[in-house]
Amino acid sequence: MTARSSVQQELDTLAVFGDSAVGWDPYTPVNETVDAEGNPFPGQPGFGVPDPRAPRERVYDHPDVARLRSRLKRHNGIPGLEILDPNEVERAARIFRRDGFVVVRDLLDEEHLAQFRRGSARALRQILEVPGRDQRKYVTESGRLPHRYSYGTASASRQMLHEEEWAAMVDLPTTTPILTEIFGSTDYMVLGAGGDLCLPGAVEYQHLHADVRESNQISAGRLQTARDIGIEIETEEVSDGPDLATRRRIIDFCPAVVTINFAMCDLTWENGPIRQILGSHTWQMPPPPPADEPEWMRMSTLVGAPAGAGVIRDNRAWHGATPNLSREIRSLPNVEYGAPWLGPKHAKTMPHHIWETLTHHGKHLCRHIKAEPGVWPPGAGVMHPLGSERRAAAKRMGGSGERRPGSPGG
Ligand SMILES: [Fe+2]
Repeated sequence: MTARSSVQQELDTLAVFGDSAVGWDPYTPVNETVDAEGNPFPGQPGFGVPDPRAPRERVYDHPDVARLRSRLKRHNGIPGLEILDPNEVERAARIFRRDGFVVVRDLLDEEHLAQFRRGSARALRQILEVPGRDQRKYVTESGRLPHRYSYGTASASRQMLHEEEWAAMVDLPTTTPILTEIFGSTDYMVLGAGGDLCLPGAVEYQHLHADVRESNQISAGRLQTARDIGIEIETEEVSDGPDLATRRRIIDFCPAVVTINFAMCDLTWENGPIRQILGSHTWQMPPPPPADEPEWMRMSTLVGAPAGAGVIRDNRAWHGATPNLSREIRSLPNVEYGAPWLGPKHAKTMPHHIWETLTHHGKHLCRHIKAEPGVWPPGAGVMHPLGSERRAAAKRMGGSGERRPGSPGG
């Protein structure tokens, strides 16, 4: 069997939970990143910041990998991580505000979990189907570390809301009450959907980062959200505006963007659980570069979150992906929500016919990202690891109102 046909065989049976033959490609060098055309080591790492402490080889039983595995087995995971039930709505919001994230089990029931697993596997198959250079099994995503992909950025529309599996998760009976509590209103909005995944053999740590930067601005809308969530507004005598303590509370507790990442498999010490740094959503400093990260920040992961759970996270909080030394794909598809006080201008990445399938509240949430009837969002439906291919696809489809590629109907 040729190398390519064995990869194809792996992809035919690909699932985003349970052991798999996917990943662990020894021919993809550790820390190798590629540019938009797929050329290795472009000198501008973008998101693919190298991990100076990574094992030297991408080989399951290499001594470096075995050493890292035994350290992870002993130390990986936040001790005493609280995992909530979906009905603990107020407690979830309280922990979210304290820590910058909260883990809640059973956000997905069996049916939704099965549906999201199917969609995640299908999208990943499309990404991995592109043949790798030389002997490599896959093409690495432009600007990322090997064996790590983002559903959002690998989609030529940068979002996944044209897929029914992602759209079906925007308004769930488990998530909507918690989001409403966090935002203090039902007028928050969906901004997009995507998520990230790592294949077995993603031996490098992804650098710690925040997804959005705090503006430190308090608009009238943000002030209203602060009132809605019960922040008492104390005013300064001189200016009559909120005093410093109140302003700090507003900025700390009223994030612009909140994301829910859903676990497709149990997060274990070995399969690349996401790491979150407690309380970092309120910090004004940037995260340390990989060489300066203390060991505890590497082990500050969400081990123990079961399949169907979600991490509801403030996008300002420092986080990063961790090594997947197992045989299981670790996939965390997500939905991203914006605060009620954000403006209405967002990319229209949800086709109208998908929007029509949503609940009444789901339709309200997607009001700013819904395309006009008959307009297919440029790039939607094309998944590719390389930026150049995605750009070409989006351009080809841009503004033409054409239907999904390869599909008979819109
Ligand atoms: Fe991120």
